[in-house]
Order: sequence, then C-alpha cells, then structure tokens
Amino acid sequence: MIKIAFAGKGGSGKSSISGTFARIVARKDRPVLALDSDPVPGMPFSLGIPVNDSPTPDDVVVEGPANGPRWVLRPGLDAEQFISQHAVIGPDGVRYLQFGNTWGHVSTLQRAQFAWSQVIEEMDPTAWNVVGDLPGGTRQAMFGWAKYANLMAIVVEPTAKSIHVGRRLRNISKANWGPEHVVVIANNERCRTY
Ligand SMILES: Nc1ncnc2c1ncn2[C@@H]1O[C@H](COP(=O)(O)OP(=O)(O)O)[C@@H](O)[C@H]1O
Ligand SMILES: [Mg+2]
Repeated sequence: MIKIAFAGKGGSGKSSISGTFARIVARKDRPVLALDSDPVPGMPFSLGIPVNDSPTPDDVVVEGPANGPRWVLRPGLDAEQFISQHAVIGPDGVRYLQFGNTWGHVSTLQRAQFAWSQVIEEMDPTAWNVVGDLPGGTRQAMFGWAKYANLMAIVVEPTAKSIHVGRRLRNISKANWGPEHVVVIANNERCRTY
C-alpha cells in the first residue's frame, strides 16, 4: 500500500500532481483514499470531482473524555465508517475526503482536525493507498500532519521561494514521527523563465 503526502509551497503544483497520482494508482484497480488537508482544497480539480466544497462536518465529533482528546469521533462512528460516509467517490473510484471549512477563525477547524487525526490513526492501513495533499508551506507538514505517510513528495518549482520552502520541508526527513522517505519533484520546470 502506497502512503504518500505531497507538500510544498502554495502554487507549486501539489494538488495537480497529487490528484493525478491518485487517479493513476486507482486505475490499477487499487483502493485509493485521497486526503485533501488543505482548507483551500485543490484536489477536486485534478481528481475530476465536480464538488469543491464537501468538508468534514462538525457533527462527526463529540466532546472527548476528561483525560483524553478534546474531541473524538461520535460513538458508533469508526474510521472506516467515517470514510465510507464522508468520502466523495470520484472518477477511477478514488475516495476523496476534504478537511473542514473555516468560519472566520482558525479555531473553527479544531473539530475536523481531531476527527482527521483519529481517522488517520485508526484507519486500516492495509485497506487503503493514501494520497495526501497538504496545505502550502511548512506549518502543517511540520505539525505531523503526514504521519500516515511513509513517503513525502516535496513539490518544488523553480522560484526562489518555492525552493526555500522545499529546503525547510526537507528537515522532516530527520523527524522521528515522520515519513521514512522524502523525495523532491521538480515541477513547472519548463514553463518558466528563470
Ligand atoms: N506541470 C504543470 N504544468 C502546467 N500547469 C501546472 C503544472 N503544475 C501546476 N500547474 C498549474 O499551476 C497552478 C497551481 O497548481 P496547484 O496544483 O493548484 O498548486 P498547489 O496545490 O501546490 O497550490 C494551477 O493553475 C495548475 O493548473
Ligand atoms: Mg493545492
């Protein structure tokens, strides 16, 4: 099972490449879960899914136990049920999950964040090839958002800022929670003058 997370600066091509990659894997009759963890989702365009707004609803979680996480999946809803109930089915059979919507303040994403962490930790790793599209920059990647992945693909285009972000992201290869392998994908290399 492939577990890959795409990271890089905004606009470098993460969504285009990750969505295309997900479809290529799915065309080989392999089950693919596409995780769009960017609050500004870009994967639907490359996956060919005609909805760009299907975020994880708030009511999938309830308050957690006193000494446990702040929010937990609603009783009776496990990771596999979450996936089957909330993933949109795209062309080639890709299952697409979209992170939450912000309603003014970033804290409104907290429920979706806990739901996603639990789904990522508890989903059956033997059931899914996982293709993740991380938000632009280093922040979420460094916060351990790609802990499901054993391979991180850093998408870099030939601009100084994109290369700078790529260099920073490279440090994730040294993290003890992180993907075992880190590769760099050079994108847009022929479309620009530099
Ligand atoms: N290899 C490529 N060739 C041509 N256009 C590309 C290529 N990669 C990305 N683009 C275009 O660049 C823009 C940003 O790509 P996108 O995948 O949305 O980046 P990100 O998800 O990293 O923000 C989009 O308009 C996309 O169509
Ligand atoms: Mg994107």
